[in-house]
Amino acid sequence: MSEQTKPNINWYPGHMTKTRRKMEEDLPLVDAVCELLDARIPISSRNPDIDAICGAKPRMVILNRMDMADPAATRQWADYFRARGMAVLQTDCKSRRGIGDFAPAVRRLLAEKLERYAQKGQKGRALKLMVVGIPNVGKSTFINQIAGRKGAKAENRPGVTRGKQWVNVDQGLLLLDTPGILWPKFEDPEVGMRLAYTGAIKEEILDTETLACHLMELLWSRYPQAVRERYKLELSPDADGYTLLTEAGKKRGYLLARGEIDTERMAKTLLDEYRSCKLGRFTLESPEQMEKTNE
Ligand code: G4P
Repeated sequence: MSEQTKPNINWYPGHMTKTRRKMEEDLPLVDAVCELLDARIPISSRNPDIDAICGAKPRMVILNRMDMADPAATRQWADYFRARGMAVLQTDCKSRRGIGDFAPAVRRLLAEKLERYAQKGQKGRALKLMVVGIPNVGKSTFINQIAGRKGAKAENRPGVTRGKQWVNVDQGLLLLDTPGILWPKFEDPEVGMRLAYTGAIKEEILDTETLACHLMELLWSRYPQAVRERYKLELSPDADGYTLLTEAGKKRGYLLARGEIDTERMAKTLLDEYRSCKLGRFTLESPEQMEKTNE
């Protein structure tokens, strides 16, 4: 990977070791792991080692920010994870959509365990869960919504220990108060870029214009109609990102003093409009890509 595209994410290797150790310490305390993903980028918002860390522990995937993702793509992702034996929940933590489905989904996932408890005469025994995910994916907001509180933001720094606290979610359902913070696959430059498109990482991993050129190309290949309409583009399907960005800037009338097109301004506009969903609700990754990643 070149220095230019190396994602400048503020984690050092010790971070990963500490968070992994912390999660491995907490795992025996819980009955299932609930992994939050950004529904717009389910591959890039995923921790590369999550399957190895969780082992045979029952799992739930929470496709969060469904309000910002392409609904058809979110359904495909839900099918993908369900086919791999995981429970799936789709949520919008801002409007609370999907939040009410959490408790029933957990009980379905852990039905056999509940049955065993009942047979042993432990009917009231609580199920225990933990939430994990990369920074900014919505863990604190999710926990607060599930618990029906406006609590403080959970600590994002790995390795900081607090006393273990459990949040009462529902009758017989307890959630570990502190979410497990995981790292993304930041050695992959594509992952770094997608995290930057969505604003998940604030650090500049590339200059704005280069980032916007890559995003433009990606959107042009995945959602050409919406991009064509919004920026009045009449270019060929294989047009490159810079040509697309320049043409969009021209159509917007973003001009510099000598009649040059202000591509820097257009780059900021594109990133803003993507992040605020003004362009549409776009998902940047599909399950077929995940299959390729796993090959
Ligand atoms: P973290 O604990 O995983 O680090 O993430 P956190 O809950 O702090 O959420 C990060 C940001 O994502 C917050 O926005 C939060 O409101 C937003 N968010 C979480 N879930 C959703 C969702 O389902 N849909 C949308 N649209 N946004 C979501 P923020 O900019 O930090 O604050 P604010 O906008 O809430 O003021």
